[in-house]
Amino acid sequence: MPRGLYGRALLILLLPIVVLQLVISVVFIQRHFEDVTQQMTDSLLLELRYLVQSVEAAGAVEPVQPLAQALQIDLELGGAAVHGFRRAFYDWSGATVIGELRRNMGGVVAVDLAEDSRRVLMQVETSAGPLTIGFQRRKVSASNPHQLLVLMAVVGVFMALVAFIYLRNQLRPITRLAAAAEAYGRGRVEPYKPSGAIEVRAAGHAFLDMRARIERQTAQRTMLLSGVSHDLRTPLTRLKLGLSMAEGDEVAEMERDVDEMEAMLDGFLDFVRSDALEEAKPVDAVALAERVAEKARRAGAVVTVEQAGAGEVEIKLRALAVERALANLLNNARRYGKKAVLRVDLGERMVRYTVEDDGPGIAEERRDDALKPFTRLDMARNQDKGGGVGLGLAIAMDVARAHGGMLRLGESEALGGLKAELVLGR
Ligand SMILES: Nc1ncnc2c1ncn2[C@@H]1O[C@H](COP(=O)(O)OP(=O)(O)OP(=O)(O)O)[C@@H](O)[C@H]1O
Ligand SMILES: [Mg+2]
Repeated sequence: MPRGLYGRALLILLLPIVVLQLVISVVFIQRHFEDVTQQMTDSLLLELRYLVQSVEAAGAVEPVQPLAQALQIDLELGGAAVHGFRRAFYDWSGATVIGELRRNMGGVVAVDLAEDSRRVLMQVETSAGPLTIGFQRRKVSASNPHQLLVLMAVVGVFMALVAFIYLRNQLRPITRLAAAAEAYGRGRVEPYKPSGAIEVRAAGHAFLDMRARIERQTAQRTMLLSGVSHDLRTPLTRLKLGLSMAEGDEVAEMERDVDEMEAMLDGFLDFVRSDALEEAKPVDAVALAERVAEKARRAGAVVTVEQAGAGEVEIKLRALAVERALANLLNNARRYGKKAVLRVDLGERMVRYTVEDDGPGIAEERRDDALKPFTRLDMARNQDKGGGVGLGLAIAMDVARAHGGMLRLGESEALGGLKAELVLGR
């Protein structure tokens, strides 16, 4: 079964035509040609028998010649020997002719159809000696029996061609819709106008509606979160200022709370910005990893960068977003572990960044939760690890999705901690 729509549609279209033609050809050849050939041969047999009887009665061919000539049949007594029963392999009706002559004419020793395709040459044993009989082939079988088949094949090919062109025009809107949907899955809004058959058009409109709704929701989320974060920042700064001038035992603690709130607001803004309107550009995937690792090192992380795979180093992506996603993963590694390894796998169709650490990791059943926004696992354990909103992994996931990829969490074999794989489609 072909995998593509073209192949399948063509198969659905062509198979019945070909089968129909084959069936008709076989039935037609068997019934029609055989019957016609048989009838024609039978009627000629009457003339042949009469001529042979006349030759036997006269003991010579000469008295019979005028009649034979009138019937357009050549007679010769004691002529050159005719060799066996021969016909060309494609000469279907020839088989019937030979069969009929052998069966219904006494004393036939040879029928040769191959010597001259337009003549029948046969030899009959008579009481006057071996009689050679020759006549035109069209006396016994319909001429050019393959004409019908050739015509059928030619028309069939022509119709198939027409069908193919028509089909291609019908399938194009579907492939266009698929392309637009795939592009949107990778975070690109490409111009698309529904066209084609009603059903395809309906699917196209549904896709456009869906896309518009998602866009609207994203815009709303962006506005809401950035608005709230922005508005909260001013009173928070005022609070901080006030606290820095206040005195007392609790001030230090309150300042820590305010700092944490500030970090959270930064997190919100980051989350909102993760799919901001950055253009995808070709960048060096390894250099990008080095850059992120370097920044993490400056923040105190222990990171080594490895490279694997033989794919192209250049990949088209939104560099800032991917850097943010990787920074989040490294940030987690630093927060929950002591050292981290960042590996870049260059594949043919994707690039995979893997961040592994030597921390406690995440239990398998909690990994899905960890990916959700605003989720922090194991609050008690996290308390002393510094502020976090639970957005780091969610942002990384968003970025991966926007690049037609995904974020997978697992267990690091080498280091024993968490293994986070950020897969980006090329
Ligand atoms: N490398 C890791 N090792 C162990 N647990 C992890 C690791 N990375 C994430 N987690 C767990 O998954 C939860 C969600 O992580 P995520 O990065 O989304 O949020 P966060 O690190 O708590 O906060 P943020 O990243 O927004 O500052 C964390 O609270 C933590 O419990
Ligand atoms: Mg984090």
